[in-house]
Amino acid sequence: MDTPTPRLEIRDLVRRFDGRAVVDHVSLTIAPGNVTCLLGPSGCGKSTTLRMIAGVEMQDEGTIHVDGNLVCDTVFRIPPERRNIGLMFQDFALFPHLSVGDNVAFGLKGDRAAKRKRAGALLERVGLSHFIDEFPHQLSGGEQQRVALARALAPQPRIMLMDEPFSGLDNRLRDGIRDETLALLKEEGASVLLVTHEPEEAMRMADEIALMRDGQIVQRGAPYNIYNAPADKAAVAFFSDVNVLRGKVEGALTDTPFGVFLAPGVPDGAEVDIVFRPQHVNIDFDRNGRGPHPTEIAGTPARGVVQRARFLGSESLVEFRMEFDGGIIRASVPDVFLPAAGTPMWLSVRRNRCFVFQAAD
Ligand SMILES: Nc1ncnc2c1ncn2[C@@H]1O[C@H](COP(=O)(O)OP(=O)(O)OP(=O)(O)O)[C@@H](O)[C@H]1O
Ligand SMILES: [Mg+2]
Repeated sequence: MDTPTPRLEIRDLVRRFDGRAVVDHVSLTIAPGNVTCLLGPSGCGKSTTLRMIAGVEMQDEGTIHVDGNLVCDTVFRIPPERRNIGLMFQDFALFPHLSVGDNVAFGLKGDRAAKRKRAGALLERVGLSHFIDEFPHQLSGGEQQRVALARALAPQPRIMLMDEPFSGLDNRLRDGIRDETLALLKEEGASVLLVTHEPEEAMRMADEIALMRDGQIVQRGAPYNIYNAPADKAAVAFFSDVNVLRGKVEGALTDTPFGVFLAPGVPDGAEVDIVFRPQHVNIDFDRNGRGPHPTEIAGTPARGVVQRARFLGSESLVEFRMEFDGGIIRASVPDVFLPAAGTPMWLSVRRNRCFVFQAAD
């Protein structure tokens, strides 16, 4: 089957400020009705990318297509208001002098009754129809956010660009609004590019995540794949706390206190980082100086001494000082597990959850 024409396709977008490429050949496609999250640390170029797609900022190189039609290259440019792209930015100001209903109807064409009907329907959908004749200052932050969403969706944009739209909300409110927003976006059939620097938000919202760093997209894929097949050490660390072991490679293998790991394609003598998450560390009790037997799945156990243990609610985080090198390894354990400091224990790591990368430094 042919793949459908992407709703949005950007190719090799570049934006330079003072000679520095802050967006550096970014390419991305979004299928109709899909949600893609542009995820990356502060300053990596997410908002700049979004602004170029919106048309409020001009790229130095590259093209933007919507439904296969050219929207913008370095010569031709459809103005922002004619791109049929909805925008919702972090500082989504509502118009203070317009009622909630008129805010939502603002971008709509047609007679007053039809506009009010569409505004009413969207407000109903976000649970705020009773506020239609109120003014923005009479609403809470979360309610204003929902009005802004209704306003952005009112003209039925084919594409919604959202830049950290939930960052002003407190945690509990945010989860609800995120889920509601996602449901509404899916209902309206909009393709969404959502910018965030929070991995959890991206995992929650995205059909696909594009991981961005230093102006470039370093990895793209479904949340599950990005989390479980990360491109490099930083990609692992961006999603969770990590443990890192250094090893030296001999014959495409590296021998560590936790057993031998494969290091395919890494030349002899080079160093590798073996990276694993705290939730993939197994803990066993010490039996007169002995630990569990090595297994294929868990590898070889190594002994460490509890430094401290903290209860975090759904899990406990235990820090060990390892006997083999004096380094720290963190393990997270579901529920309550709070061994006393100084307790010797044996750690092993789920070998199929370890990532081996050639050391960069
Ligand atoms: N108009 C401008 N002039 C000069 N530099 C700029 C301009 N706009 C952005 N930059 C720089 O480009 C880089 C990327 O900025 P951008 O706003 O795209 O980052 P971001 O990924 O959205 O970060 P954040 O998560 O903090 O919002 C930053 O280093 C920023 O200082
Ligand atoms: Mg930004």
